[in-house]
Amino acid sequence: MYNTKAYAAASATSPLAGTTIPRREPTKRDVQIEILFCGICHSDLHSVRNEWSSVMPTTYPIVPGHEIVGRVTKVGSAVTKFKPGDLAAVGCLVDSDGTCPECRAGLEQFCPNQTLTFNSPDKHLGGVTYGGYSDSIVVDERFVLRVPTSLDLAGAAPLLCAGITTYSPMRRWGVTTGRKVGVVGLGGLGHMGVKFAHALGAHVAVFTTSPRKKEDALRLGADEVVVSRDANEMQKHAGSFDFILDAVSANHDINAYINLLRRDGTITIVGAPEKPHAVSAFSLLMGRRNLSGSLIGGIPETQEMLDFCGAHSITADVEVIPIQKVNEAYERLLKADVKYRFSIDMASLKSE
Ligand SMILES: NC(=O)c1ccc[n+]([C@@H]2O[C@H](COP(=O)([O-])OP(=O)(O)OC[C@H]3O[C@@H](n4cnc5c(N)ncnc54)[C@H](OP(=O)(O)O)[C@@H]3O)[C@@H](O)[C@H]2O)c1
Ligand SMILES: [Zn+2]
Ligand SMILES: [Zn+2]
Repeated sequence: MYNTKAYAAASATSPLAGTTIPRREPTKRDVQIEILFCGICHSDLHSVRNEWSSVMPTTYPIVPGHEIVGRVTKVGSAVTKFKPGDLAAVGCLVDSDGTCPECRAGLEQFCPNQTLTFNSPDKHLGGVTYGGYSDSIVVDERFVLRVPTSLDLAGAAPLLCAGITTYSPMRRWGVTTGRKVGVVGLGGLGHMGVKFAHALGAHVAVFTTSPRKKEDALRLGADEVVVSRDANEMQKHAGSFDFILDAVSANHDINAYINLLRRDGTITIVGAPEKPHAVSAFSLLMGRRNLSGSLIGGIPETQEMLDFCGAHSITADVEVIPIQKVNEAYERLLKADVKYRFSIDMASLKSE
């Protein structure tokens, strides 16, 4: 065991603050990574404030962060894919049983014995796992990903959650040329959704509550932008979408979007607001529409997404911040005020 610097919250109402946490010495199959950048996902904020207490209650102290990019500093004797000095990335998962049907299908995110990057029971040290708001992390090689060397690292970090969470449902539901695709909420996830839908050749509409984001949405790859609080603008799109991705972090009326789907169209929820959605049966019955959900992505698909980003030069649009600004960043996230992901420069932790 060794100690490493981190930022943690001591309770649902405490700010994040500097601390020291234990990490295991790398075992045979482990990769030790010096963390260079870690994205701030809205899930970090939901977890720190225990907003998902009914589904996954938070154990304190919590060290969030699951959009991790760094450099390998040490590898165990049985590690074959990485060596010291390599770039490496870690997303939302750090372990799973590797034997269940989900794992065998490469869908580790649904493994009943998975270990999440933070706030999951830690099989090695006891207690819970600690995430990427820290100096270093030790992860089983099977859950360490390769980052294309052509990508900017601060902008690559958010691919590990915001990227895969939007890429996976778009691939699953056949987003491609000729399809009309909507993305609801232009935040960290949403802006990646726009980039992927555009790269996959779809006609992309962004739904936003923030009229000030219009120009950015077009620059990011949208073909049109709809201010969702304008009922007239919404009505113009009734019954026309093949696929809509709902990436909103707060409670909102999802029926307004279901009604925009054409016959057999699909809306996939990736946003995870605190309270349940109220879904109108009629919105679904009319037009035989599909309501579905999606959770991050498995390890093989996460690597596929990173390689796709390498080939298409896709990264997140980031505001790079020092870790000391993390509490301010959380307040701004709540106001939908980020362009379009915060990426923490972990060098700032060294001076603590
Ligand atoms: N399913 C998964 O695997 C998965 C993975 C990661 C994250 N998530 C969840 O996905 C959600 C989005 O995460 P994120 O990191 O992208 O968050 P984010 O950067 O904060 O973006 C959320 C966006 O939602 C919109 N929004 C916020 N409040 C709203 C309101 N009251 N009504 C309507 N729209 C509102 C805003 O977009 P506009 O300004 O454009 O309206 C905002 O930018 C979170 O709930 C997060 O926990 C799920
Ligand atoms: Zn996330
Ligand atoms: Zn499994």
